[in-house]
Amino acid sequence: MSAPVARARVDLDATAERLERLGLSYAAGRLAEHLAEASSQDLPAHRFLDRLLDAELAEREQRRISTSLRLSGLPTGQTLGNFDFAFQPAIERSRIETLATCAWIRSHETLLIQGPPGVGKTHLAVALGVKAVENGFSVLFLRLEELIAALKRDADLPASRLRRRKYLNVALLIIDEMGFEPLDRQAASLFFRLVSYRYGRGSILITTNKGIKDWPELLAGDEVLATAILDRLLHHSHVINIKGRSYRLRDLEQAISLRS
Ligand SMILES: Nc1ncnc2c1ncn2[C@@H]1O[C@H](COP(=O)(O)OP(=O)(O)OP(=O)(O)O)[C@@H](O)[C@H]1O
Ligand SMILES: [Mg+2]
Repeated sequence: MSAPVARARVDLDATAERLERLGLSYAAGRLAEHLAEASSQDLPAHRFLDRLLDAELAEREQRRISTSLRLSGLPTGQTLGNFDFAFQPAIERSRIETLATCAWIRSHETLLIQGPPGVGKTHLAVALGVKAVENGFSVLFLRLEELIAALKRDADLPASRLRRRKYLNVALLIIDEMGFEPLDRQAASLFFRLVSYRYGRGSILITTNKGIKDWPELLAGDEVLATAILDRLLHHSHVINIKGRSYRLRDLEQAISLRS
């Protein structure tokens, strides 16, 4: 190795180490590559620096998104990109795209996705959750059963500790599968406490196979509690009612139509 090349190498290592010490590890690792690119393209110094910092920021954003997705409990693989809107014409694509901007989360509104089994309620809820994470919101995805178990576990916590629970303070709480099992009295009243706390503070997205009229039955038969919960949930809300075919049965339908 010639002396100038060796010197340049040492300088580069020292610069990379400084970047590292400043917490810019990605830029440190990519320094040599970016310098080579800058010199081959004759880039002005400020353009080189800009590209290097841009790469660092993009990498951080990617890391933030994957960490937040992991912490959110959102299942993987269900996105707006792989949702077949043509299969479910009852869903207005433009409405979903508007919801995907997350303006409703910024305004602490509620979203209710209703419909029979297999029509894509969970898929859409997850896809909107992913959008929320990408837009910088904290998200928690729980099936109703998991949420109720957590609420019961925490029932006697002092308020100061309770307030730190994720289901109370994330920007978007997604509650999947409301309606499969009716809640007992304790669960219904804990659910009311949750909805009351989050009202005006954070968004809730609920997927359900039940209509609004069935909610009293779902909530331990308590008409008064159901009204109080629905009043808060529906005050600033969006409702998507999916009337359509089950995607799960699509393959079966296709197989049957091929045979006949
Ligand atoms: N329009 C669609 N495009 C692509 N995949 C879909 C569509 N609708 C549903 N699916 C897929 O079909 C399966 C069932 O959908 P999903 O779980 O969202 O139904 P659901 O309405 O939540 O049903 P359930 O009430 O039984 O929970 C999932 O794997 C989902 O990804
Ligand atoms: Mg579902």
